[in-house]
Amino acid sequence: MSKAIAGFSKLSKDQKIAWIAKEYFSNPDEAIALIQKYWNNDAEVQKLHDEFIENTITNFYLPLGIAPNFSINGKDYTIPMAIEESSVVAAASKSAKFWATRGGFKATVLNTEKIGQVHFMFKGDIEKLRSFFATVKPKLFSETESITGNMQKRGGGILDIELRDKTDLLPNYYQLHATFETVDSMGANFINSCLEQFAKILKSEAEIYSDFNEGEKNLQVVMSILSNYVPNCVVRAEVSCPVSDLNEDKSISPEEFAEKFITAVQIAEVEPFRAVTHNKGIMNGIDAVILATGNDFRAVEAGIHAYASREGKYSSLSHATVEDGIFRFWIDVPLALGTVGGLTSLHPLVKLSMEMLGKPSAKELMQIVAVAGLAQNFAALRSLTTTGIQQGHMKMHLMNILNQLQATEAEKQKAVKHFEKNTVSHSAAGDFIQELRKVNA
Ligand code: MEV
Repeated sequence: MSKAIAGFSKLSKDQKIAWIAKEYFSNPDEAIALIQKYWNNDAEVQKLHDEFIENTITNFYLPLGIAPNFSINGKDYTIPMAIEESSVVAAASKSAKFWATRGGFKATVLNTEKIGQVHFMFKGDIEKLRSFFATVKPKLFSETESITGNMQKRGGGILDIELRDKTDLLPNYYQLHATFETVDSMGANFINSCLEQFAKILKSEAEIYSDFNEGEKNLQVVMSILSNYVPNCVVRAEVSCPVSDLNEDKSISPEEFAEKFITAVQIAEVEPFRAVTHNKGIMNGIDAVILATGNDFRAVEAGIHAYASREGKYSSLSHATVEDGIFRFWIDVPLALGTVGGLTSLHPLVKLSMEMLGKPSAKELMQIVAVAGLAQNFAALRSLTTTGIQQGHMKMHLMNILNQLQATEAEKQKAVKHFEKNTVSHSAAGDFIQELRKVNA
C-alpha cells in the first residue's frame, strides 16, 4: 500500500508524529514515546530546534566533548567537539598534551578568498562577449551596493569578477567567476545574493547590448551559486620539535618513530586507498569542531576532499619531514568558516562552544579547526605505527559494548578494571559479563 501523503508539511507536529508512527512502526505507541523522550524539557529550546528545519519530529543528539590542553600560537584552548566516535576526543586530548610540552601548535591563515560563479550559455562571438563583459563589469559592482554595503563596512566585499571561457569543456559554456572576502561570516547568503544579482544584470544588459545579434542577446543563465571549493581560503597548522624529543613511547626509539611516522605520511601521499583513511582521521577532528561551532560540515568536507585531489590524484592533506634533526608535521586545509551569522548566533550550544573558544574571529576558528585535524592525525599515526589502533580504540569502545550488553553500573566498573589488562573485543566483553552474572546468580 502506498505511503505517499499530500500536504504533509502543513500538518501539526503531533499530526506528523501520529502519521509516521501509524504508517511505519509495528508498535506506534512505543515509537511516539521514544520520539517524545528526546524532546527538550525547555519548550523554548525545543521550539528553536523545531524551527531549524522542516518536519522536525524530535532531536538527534550527539555528545559534545571537550579536549583541553591545546596550545595554539601560544594561547591555551579547550576545544569543543561534537562527535559520536568513542576515541576521537581522547585522541585529541592526548595529542594536545603531547605537543603542549613541545612548543604547542602553530597555525597561520594563508588566505581567505571565497568563490562564486554564474554559469551561463552564450552562442556567439567570444570577442563580442569579452567587450560586453568589460562594459557591464562596473555595473556588477555598482548595482550590488545594497547587498555589499554592510560587508564593505566590515572590511569585506566583492574582490573581483572574471569572465571565464569554458567552451573547451562544454559547448557555449561561460562563467562569471567572482571572488569575495566575507570576513567573519561564512558568506553563503551574501555570495549567493550577489551572484543572483550579477545574473539578472548580465541577462538584462545582454538583451539591450547593441553589438549583439538576436542569438547573442539571448544569453542563458543556467545557475548562480557559491563554490564550496575554496583553494585560496587555506590555513596551515603545524608542530615541530627535535627528533630526540619524540620520546614518549618506550617500545620504539625517537629516531625510529620519526622515520616510521614519515613513511606512514608518505604512503598516504602516494596511495589513494590509504590517503582516504588518513584524511578521514583528520576529518574526525575537523568535523567535530565544525559541528560544535555551528558551521557547515558538508561544505567543508566537499571542499577539503577536492583540495586533497588538486594535483589530479587524491592525496594526504598532511605532510612530515625531518631536517637537521627537527621533526616537522603540518597540514594545509581549505576552510570557509563563519563565527557570525547562520547557526552561530542561534544554537545555544554553538554559542557555548564559541564562548569556550574565546569568541574567535573566523580566521582564529580556521586555525583551531586545522589544529584539531592535525592533532587527530598525529594521534592516529602514532598509534598505527606503534601499538596499532585497536588497543586504544577498543578500550574507548568498551563502554558502547557494555551498554549494548545492558551491563549494570557495578558490572561496568568490574569490566573496565578487568579490561585495563586484557584485550577488549565484543566477545571477550560478552563472556566477561556472562561469567559475572553466573557468579552472582
Ligand atoms: C578512525 O576513525 C580513523 C583512522 O582510521 C585514521 C587513520 O587510519 O589514520 C584511525
